[in-house]
Amino acid sequence: MDTTGTILLPPSGSTIAGDVDAVFNLILYVGTFFFILVIGLAAYFVFKYRRREKPGLTSSIDHNVKLEIIWTVIPAIIVIIFFIVGFRVFLKMNIVPADALEIKVTAQRWMWAFDYPDGVNSLNELVVPADRPIKLLLSSTDVIHSFFVPDFRIKMDVLPNRYTVTWFEAERPGQHDLLCAEYCGKGHSEMLGRIKVVPEEEYESWLQKAFVIDESIPLEEYGTTLYKSKACYTCHTEDGSGSVGPTFKGTFSGDVMLSDGSKVTIDENYIRESILNPRAKIAMGFQPVMPTYQGRLRDREIDALIAFIKSLSE
Ligand code: CUA
Repeated sequence: MDTTGTILLPPSGSTIAGDVDAVFNLILYVGTFFFILVIGLAAYFVFKYRRREKPGLTSSIDHNVKLEIIWTVIPAIIVIIFFIVGFRVFLKMNIVPADALEIKVTAQRWMWAFDYPDGVNSLNELVVPADRPIKLLLSSTDVIHSFFVPDFRIKMDVLPNRYTVTWFEAERPGQHDLLCAEYCGKGHSEMLGRIKVVPEEEYESWLQKAFVIDESIPLEEYGTTLYKSKACYTCHTEDGSGSVGPTFKGTFSGDVMLSDGSKVTIDENYIRESILNPRAKIAMGFQPVMPTYQGRLRDREIDALIAFIKSLSE
């Protein structure tokens, strides 16, 4: 199967991609053929029956039963073929294999959270084993998003107050882009993620590692990696520039004006509260849009992020 992609299609990374492409190509080629046929004939007739010096009488032919049956029956057969071919792939895309590994996907402005079995979770990067069907159970905490992986040819709406399901099976290890395909606000275009397909053994060891925190990494260094892996950077800069949320640079131990007019000092407790209960104390000039990280960060991770923010004020 093609792995590099073409001018029309991205590389194919899932077992369903070849089927989807086959339907796409069938419709494309048949459509192109008839486009050329119809436009070609139209152009030919425009030329052939163009206005002459001395026009003859217009013929009195008004219809042709044989011709009309042909141009009704042939297109009807073609669209029936499209339906049958497309419906078979549609069923395949929508019937999740019984032995699929289930992963919960939660979308919120503007990030993707993944929950694996055994309490492991990740943000913006979905790690899955190759050669194994993966069932995704999707929901949103705020507005409608759409889970779109072009290489896998899957796209599924992600809704608040309702679960949707999709599945895929990646054929080989590799990386694939994950996009949000439903306009969901200011950060929509930055609601990007990655699907990392790894061999089964590597997935198992990743699960183990994700579950056990490596205590040997210094807090500040750990916080720096979390700032990226937990996608804090999508709203908080580390260079002092403005963004959706306050910058992290040079803020620690300073005072911040809150939206209710009161003032607090940015210390460990304020940062911890702002991570777990972001709407408790909103800094003036910012919207209460940060999602809670309750249950998504463990204590050592929060400690690490605090150490990282502190280091930006030294
Ligand atoms: Cu989420 Cu667009």
